[in-house]
Amino acid sequence: MTKERKLIIAGNWKMNKTVAEALDLVNGLKRELATVKEVDVAVCPPFTALESVSKAILDSNLRLGAQNMSENNYGAFTGEICAAMLKEFCVRYVILGHSERRQYQKESDALIAKKALAAHAASLKPIVCVGETLAEREAGQTNQVLETQVRGSLAGLSKEQMVETVVAYEPVWAIGTGKTATTQQAQDAHAFIRGVLAQVFDDATAKKVRIQYGGSVKPGNARELMGQPDVDGALVGGASLAVRDFADIIKNSI
Ligand code: 13P
Repeated sequence: MTKERKLIIAGNWKMNKTVAEALDLVNGLKRELATVKEVDVAVCPPFTALESVSKAILDSNLRLGAQNMSENNYGAFTGEICAAMLKEFCVRYVILGHSERRQYQKESDALIAKKALAAHAASLKPIVCVGETLAEREAGQTNQVLETQVRGSLAGLSKEQMVETVVAYEPVWAIGTGKTATTQQAQDAHAFIRGVLAQVFDDATAKKVRIQYGGSVKPGNARELMGQPDVDGALVGGASLAVRDFADIIKNSI
């Protein structure tokens, strides 16, 4: 299918895969996806597998992403990883503000915005996640929540930085639950987010930003989701952990 923006499909492995398991997965993906040029494909392993996966995909069309980074560049921040450390392994993308981090690590929009600026300063492309909970959707607050998160998490970015940023719309109620947003719900949310980006930046910038959908993306629903005009890719959790599923999601999206 021909799209206005090049699709970007990324696998968020979350806290899964030892180094040996990670290598099995990427070696399988390399074989399956060797000829894919139409879609930008990235894998986001845990920090501990970045070095091995980086070496394994050097000669491939797969790109590397991390799942988080610090807003600080160095110093006394026990347990944190900074942008320069990711750059050592040729990391290109970094997922920021995933709903699991918003929930368990209490990450705020303001913190996520600082991380996004730090990522850009190091020439990493942030994938900034936004999305409403089930309670917020049922209370009719979806657009309000998305607007607050988009404005807050992307605050301070220049237009040039925004174009190099990916937004991931991940309704919290669809993550790991097997419940996918209907294609219409996804398209509506994506169009709304693009409208907010047009207000904050401008129309031309908003038109260039890629907005991924995330939440129970599977080989069986990828084609219909990617067929929506404002859906420019996917951030895949569970189904990115198996070669067959992730490869089929990508093949079904082309
Ligand atoms: P699932 O694909 O497992 O629902 O996870 C989505 C997600 O959180 C990707 O970041």
